[in-house]
Amino acid sequence: MDDPTSSASALSRRERLWRWLKKPWLLSIPIGIYLLVIGLAGFQSVMVASNQNVFCFSCHLKMDTIVQEYKASPHYVSEDKVHATCADCHVPHEFVDKMRVKITATADIYYMFIGKITKENFEQERPRLAQRVWDDMTAENSANCRHCHVGDNFDLSKQPQRARLNHQQMDARGETCIDCHTGIAHKRITVE
Ligand code: HEC
Ligand code: HEC
Ligand code: HEC
Ligand code: HEC
Repeated sequence: MDDPTSSASALSRRERLWRWLKKPWLLSIPIGIYLLVIGLAGFQSVMVASNQNVFCFSCHLKMDTIVQEYKASPHYVSEDKVHATCADCHVPHEFVDKMRVKITATADIYYMFIGKITKENFEQERPRLAQRVWDDMTAENSANCRHCHVGDNFDLSKQPQRARLNHQQMDARGETCIDCHTGIAHKRITVE
């Protein structure tokens, strides 16, 4: 048989708990957690979306010839087969470096609006931009190249002799990929 008094007190305990939960400031906890989760998910998808080629294309197609050159390079085979996206080569994998690049890249949104780079002045501006990329890649020991060209994908024993001989001596000579492989995705330029 049920004890009416105990169930009554259980009810009021539940009621008390409910009333306590309804306090506005307490409600801010689940809402806060919810916003945090949505925020992080949104943040993550912005990070991912901004790495897609279309994002990079959206500006660079209009202002220079970079995209066309990339599409003619061995790292881009077809729409369905892309060996390396723009971001694979240009955006670091390590989180802190990634954030640094994304933050400096927001300045490019401003430059885009003021039309700093155009199809007309691109060739004059190009050496400055290329130098920046070379400096970054040298400083990072071509980390993005090595992200893919590693292990079985960089098996010296399977490479033609000329490539193998160069690669074998690279560490001893303190060389890095970008010292030799410039102009792999864009028009080769030479800076004196
Ligand atoms: C909002 C427009 C915009 C988008 C989107 C954009 N860029 Fe750029 N990018 C620029 C502008 C403008 C410059 C020239 C900046 C300058 O003159 O200093 C630039 C320069 C560069 C450079 C030259 C070197 C450097 O460090 O500045 C690289 C590399 C580059 N962008 C890669 C990318 C990649 C990869 C993506 C996609 C992840 C991308 N860009 C998306 C506008 C954009
Ligand atoms: C996302 C992966 C990826 C990244 C990043 C990448 N590559 Fe490649 N690369 C490939 C694949 C896949 C091929 C085609 C198959 C092969 O030759 O291994 C290729 C081909 C090449 C080739 C031979 C074809 C040619 O263009 O002469 C060279 C050289 C090369 N990569 C150098 C580099 C360098 C230097 C970097 C860094 C600036 C780099 N790659 C970044 C995946 C990548
Ligand atoms: C000292 C110069 C030098 C350095 C440094 C160097 N390479 Fe090479 N690499 C070459 C030469 C030369 C070839 C042969 C290219 C040719 O004959 O056209 C080659 C060929 C390649 C190929 C094509 C291999 C094949 O099977 O045909 C890839 C991929 C490549 N290098 C990637 C890299 C990567 C990634 C790095 C950095 C880890 C790197 N290289 C560093 C000089 C260099
Ligand atoms: C396989 C690696 C690789 C890929 C993929 C790649 N780049 Fe580059 N990018 C480089 C290297 C290396 C340089 C430095 C200049 C050079 O050696 O060609 C460079 C230079 C640049 C520059 C400076 C101007 C110049 O001509 O040097 C811009 C802007 C740029 N890249 C944007 C892009 C964009 C946008 C994409 C995609 C459409 C892209 N890159 C794809 C490796 C890559």
